[in-house]
Amino acid sequence: MLGVYFDNAATSYPKPERVIEAMRDYFLNVGANSGRSAYHHAQEASRIVFETRECVAQLIGAKDSSRVIFTSNATEGLNMAIMGILNEGDEVVTTSMEHNSVMRPLRYVEQTRSVRIKTVQCSQKGELDPDDVKRNIGLQTKLIVMTSASNVTGTLFPVSEVSRMAREFEIPMLIDAAQTSGCVPLDVTKDVFDVVAFSGHKGLLGPQGTGCLYIREGIDLRPIRYGGTGSHSEFEFQPDFLPDRYESGTLNVIGIAGLGAAVNYLLEKGVENVRAGEEQLMESLLDTISHMEDVTVYGTGDSRYRTGVLSITIDGMEPSEVGYELDAHYDIALRVGLHCSPAAHKTIGTFPEGTIRISLGPFNTEDDINLLCNALDEITVRK
Ligand SMILES: Cc1ncc(COP(=O)(O)O)c(C=O)c1O
Repeated sequence: MLGVYFDNAATSYPKPERVIEAMRDYFLNVGANSGRSAYHHAQEASRIVFETRECVAQLIGAKDSSRVIFTSNATEGLNMAIMGILNEGDEVVTTSMEHNSVMRPLRYVEQTRSVRIKTVQCSQKGELDPDDVKRNIGLQTKLIVMTSASNVTGTLFPVSEVSRMAREFEIPMLIDAAQTSGCVPLDVTKDVFDVVAFSGHKGLLGPQGTGCLYIREGIDLRPIRYGGTGSHSEFEFQPDFLPDRYESGTLNVIGIAGLGAAVNYLLEKGVENVRAGEEQLMESLLDTISHMEDVTVYGTGDSRYRTGVLSITIDGMEPSEVGYELDAHYDIALRVGLHCSPAAHKTIGTFPEGTIRISLGPFNTEDDINLLCNALDEITVRK
């Protein structure tokens, strides 16, 4: 058991008890592949996959669950969308706050398909002005891709506004919702979002190795993987219906079983309640931490416009030193450094050392916040 865990932006911990039970139950009592056979264990596996898909669809407001594709993480979904949409000579508009899971596939298509990347510069607080996106849209723009919230500053991005703009220009928009799914309410139907990639193992509280890609009706991605789906096995061509078009190969059924239990937990609790709890904890954290001597806080100070992610630095100390002290002497786990987002650190002025990132989850308490703040107090006095 970990002491105090503040690395929920990387992966959430702990998981609801029912996630562990569902995974254990799958391994003990089911075990089979989904979508392949008719014996009752296999049907049970297919039922688990179907029900999890329905639960995720319900959580994100998708009317048709077949448009929810299971992936192994947010990165896979982002790759599927970027590789599946962009062609030779296209332009893509993105922001200066993106994670490498967006930037690296973009750099790959820049090198291999001569795709031109237009990067919208965000403010030093990590905020995006939607008008700057508009100014960067050109005739060759074939995709807009941006995060729903920064994994460095926690700043929420105006994805609804940009999505409306993208629709006016008839350009598909890809949202990297890794940092908001399960933590901030999302309704893909109300907002008419085109393509949304998210992790199953962060805010959704499922196990590692799970993620989803939502694809709106009318949007087609060229698959990046082809192979067996268990459907239309008489044909050597990839099925054109969803989800099979994008789900070749054996699914991570045990992970999906855990994800289903996690999403059920969230549906019962309500994402708006998770959000309210994290907002309250963030207010307490900001209240104390922003008054600490030698501590610099990044991003907006208003918890309504941020997620449960906070980056700080301490004058005269490397983030890695602070991370080590917290782990070794206080059993407090958090992440330090660049958090896979070098561009974001260049934007906020913390490159190359990075920051100390405190990322809250639904199981953190005021006591955890007090323990962290007291530890930081002691560390800064000792330095
Ligand atoms: C903003 C953002 N995008 C993408 C990812 C990648 O998520 P995953 O690890 O599920 O691939 C992360 C993970 O930290 C993230 O914070």
